[in-house]
Amino acid sequence: MDCISRDKIKKLEELIGEYRFNHSLGVMETAERFCKALGENPDKGKIAGLFHDCGKFLDKKMAFEFIKDNNLVYPEEYLENFQLLHPHLGADVARIVFDINDDYILDSIRYHTTLRENPSLLDKIIFITDAIEPGRDFEGVEKLRDLANKNIDEAILFSLDDTIKALINKGKYLGIDTIKARNYFLNIVEK
Ligand SMILES: [Fe+2]
Ligand SMILES: [Fe+2]
Repeated sequence: MDCISRDKIKKLEELIGEYRFNHSLGVMETAERFCKALGENPDKGKIAGLFHDCGKFLDKKMAFEFIKDNNLVYPEEYLENFQLLHPHLGADVARIVFDINDDYILDSIRYHTTLRENPSLLDKIIFITDAIEPGRDFEGVEKLRDLANKNIDEAILFSLDDTIKALINKGKYLGIDTIKARNYFLNIVEK
């Protein structure tokens, strides 16, 4: 896999910092395992997992310079909220900096935070492994890991519900894709 060359891995660590890089390694390994279990291409899972946070620039000023230098355009709601911006920016960073041109992989990077209505299997795997990789430590993570191993759709619904509640409790902005994804999973899990 050319995009997982030593140079690119070094570049990724420089861009996002050691903490986020170690998290990305955790997502890469966990995503590979889920891909094998669920019949997804494990190489795509590894690439998407490793680079999913490549838009999470350690230096936020650099992120906005990158956007300007590459004439990238994002909706205002993303530009005002870095948590919503970084996955969309990440898909562009993955393409421009890391030469990843597979739209299936790029979409899973683009939707790893909010997910979306009717996501691909890779979208689902990157979304949930981002939450449960071994480095994650939050209340309920073990329950989420167990659930994800048994039924990825139920785990995603649980996680989306949790995220939505937390965002509302903190008075934070809620992206429309998260709401659409939550309603989509509510439908398929109930059936
Ligand atoms: Fe992220
Ligand atoms: Fe992440």
